[in-house]
Amino acid sequence: MTRKLRFGLIGLGEIAYKSTGHVLQQTANAEMIAGMDPVPEMATTFEAAFGIPCSTRLEDVLENPDVDAVVISTPHYLHVPLGIQAARAGKHVIVEKPMATTLEDADALIAACRETGVLCSSKEGSVRYQPATAKARELIAQGAIGEVMATQVVGAANKPPSYWTGGYTGRIQTTWRKSKFESGGGVLIMNYIYDFYRMRYLTGQEVTRVFAEFGTFRTPVEVEDFITVTLRYTNGALGMWMASSCAPGASKMGARGTKATDNRIFGTAGQIVFDNNDLLVYTDNEVAGLPRGEWTTLSFPQQSDDQSYRVYFDKFAEAVFEGREPDIPGEEGRKTLEVLLAAYKSGETHQPVTLGAVDGRQ
Ligand SMILES: NC(=O)c1ccc[n+]([C@@H]2O[C@H](COP(=O)([O-])OP(=O)(O)OC[C@H]3O[C@@H](n4cnc5c(N)ncnc54)[C@H](O)[C@@H]3O)[C@@H](O)[C@H]2O)c1
Repeated sequence: MTRKLRFGLIGLGEIAYKSTGHVLQQTANAEMIAGMDPVPEMATTFEAAFGIPCSTRLEDVLENPDVDAVVISTPHYLHVPLGIQAARAGKHVIVEKPMATTLEDADALIAACRETGVLCSSKEGSVRYQPATAKARELIAQGAIGEVMATQVVGAANKPPSYWTGGYTGRIQTTWRKSKFESGGGVLIMNYIYDFYRMRYLTGQEVTRVFAEFGTFRTPVEVEDFITVTLRYTNGALGMWMASSCAPGASKMGARGTKATDNRIFGTAGQIVFDNNDLLVYTDNEVAGLPRGEWTTLSFPQQSDDQSYRVYFDKFAEAVFEGREPDIPGEEGRKTLEVLLAAYKSGETHQPVTLGAVDGRQ
């Protein structure tokens, strides 16, 4: 690669400061050259920490001809309006998860990027670059667990009151995480979006029907702090998800995708369980490297989220330089979002919600 893709950062709060700034200092194909945040302290502290010019004006990023792409790390309801402005300025667009808070918004961003010829991607897709996720996908594709019958995602966190106004680090005081309009929802869309994307990616199945119930039990916010979701996939498989941000005894960041009971895929010939960095695999089939009829532990090196983010930025840059679609185009973010929004709709109406074309068993 002769040069790196040059990013401008829009929004310099918690994730930009604790993660993206460091990630973009370590990527092979991407770098950051400018940043902006309307709050002056966010701009000055980011500039001091990372040594790139930061301002409070969006134009300083969007009108900078050296900026090739932006990463938008703002409250959720701003992802799309800012993304559309960036696309119209000719910048490739990465949005933090979730892509948008409504499907109309997601469609508008995808359309703006298509019209202006820039690439678009939302960052929850980075989980596909985690080694255990990649291996699980390979095993499922090889037929190690047969036909997928069901997926399970169960996880609980116990977010402290300070989270709702300052995130995990208190870098900036805000109220958007508490607001249904500004965030789009609570623990489901905020945290478990990664796990649900992972299940779509691993199974290769889309969701056709969703039923959900949710409540706000222990947190003074507009969004849910506990949700249960039942679903059906295109191949007829079932799904069961349960997520909480208010479970006494759980850690503040929960155990998203990393505990034995969290992410599990049941197949007609086996099971795969995500257990910290390991995969526990059972198969009744002949699979190279796996004993038949027994559980096997496949271990992977300890990985931080930043490592998969690094691969994500590098792969996005490669796609730009090679003039092709990114691995995770905007349409992927939209599909994941559609399921989450259907769950919210179901929880509000207490009725199942059917999605898209249904070609599986009912
Ligand atoms: N904090 C995390 O651990 C984490 C992890 C993964 C993804 N994310 C995602 O990152 C995004 C940002 O979350 P966060 O935790 O950094 O929030 P945050 O509140 O800490 O930071 C958001 C920043 O956006 C800025 N902002 C507000 N309006 C803006 C505008 N019009 N233009 C530019 N900047 C504006 C705010 O001033 C603030 O500094 C969200 O999509 C979130 O889901 C966060």
